[in-house]
Amino acid sequence: MSNDLIQLEAWLTEAAMAATSVGTLDTVRVETLGKKGRLTALLKELGTLAPDQRAQRGAELNVFKQRATEILERRQAELRDAEVEARLAAERIDVTLTVRPETEGRVHPVSQTMDEIIAIFGQMGFTVAEGPDIEDDFHNFTALNIPPEHPARQMHDTFYLPEQSGGSRFLLRTHTSPVQIRTMRAGQPPIRIIAPGRTYRCDSDMTHTPMFHQVEGLVIDRTTHFGHLKGCIIEFIRTYFESGDVPVRFRPSFFPFTEPSAEVDIGCSRAGGELKIGPGGGWLEILGCGMVHPNVLRACNIDPDVYQGFAFGVGIERIAMLKYGIPDLRTFYESDLRWLRHYGFAALDVPTLTGGLTR
Ligand code: DAH
Repeated sequence: MSNDLIQLEAWLTEAAMAATSVGTLDTVRVETLGKKGRLTALLKELGTLAPDQRAQRGAELNVFKQRATEILERRQAELRDAEVEARLAAERIDVTLTVRPETEGRVHPVSQTMDEIIAIFGQMGFTVAEGPDIEDDFHNFTALNIPPEHPARQMHDTFYLPEQSGGSRFLLRTHTSPVQIRTMRAGQPPIRIIAPGRTYRCDSDMTHTPMFHQVEGLVIDRTTHFGHLKGCIIEFIRTYFESGDVPVRFRPSFFPFTEPSAEVDIGCSRAGGELKIGPGGGWLEILGCGMVHPNVLRACNIDPDVYQGFAFGVGIERIAMLKYGIPDLRTFYESDLRWLRHYGFAALDVPTLTGGLTR
């Protein structure tokens, strides 16, 4: 190859490498192969040559054109790839999930237990009902078949608010049972509710605090019977304690608002001084229940000759203590951070039956 073409190729190689985009490379192409390009100028000179020189020079220029085209194409492919790479990098979307945040706070065992109870009864078709913490005598007592002079009133250690001008006194509800009354008076059966919430009694020792929590249950329909009550409670207990072999015993009892009434015990063992829920010969009382008394239905304008049903009441702290091995009730309300870190739950551990109540 003659000298001028060797130089031209050197120039072209350098210019192509210096081009940083497909656009600038095209300028180099035009400058080389375009109408006014350097090679085109050389081709035009062919006509001035003698015929034998012309053939040789023509062949040489053709070879050069081939090489120039290859250099430009190779560089173009490189620049294209680089441009695609740059675009991919710029438009990259991170679709991976972020790490779960380390939350500082913990969910109190009472809240967690309530959520577990709601998950279980929710699955059985119950909805959550609510009532006020400050109640009147009618909803807390009278409508529940506890008339003014009834001895059951003494057993409730009621906190009363100051007397109203008419002589009546509001009180802090002593149980969640008044929510039964409010629910039945608000609508006709079928009814299937649970009512978790705060309750208050003027009492304080190892096993009593002035404020505690209960969950009330109420089912009213035309043919609801004691068998339904038993099935529902046994199902709840075994799901809550996450063990299919917990013995459950219904023991005759008395509540003014149910007839017949029962208290429910669960089996436990105390081997080696350690309390364990399950078969083992021992029994622990955990809830009260029964068939709703006809007087209660009447107080709620429901005809007891058409409708019947069952109710139950559970102490939330009590079943939380049993499940999570918390020995002293009073510690629930001491706001001790070490206690909360130990017995509390991660904020994102929402109990569900499909996901597992506790994980
Ligand atoms: N209200 C009762 C209490 O606080 C608990 C209870 C017992 C509720 C039996 C009920 C029931 O609905 O049927 O001691």
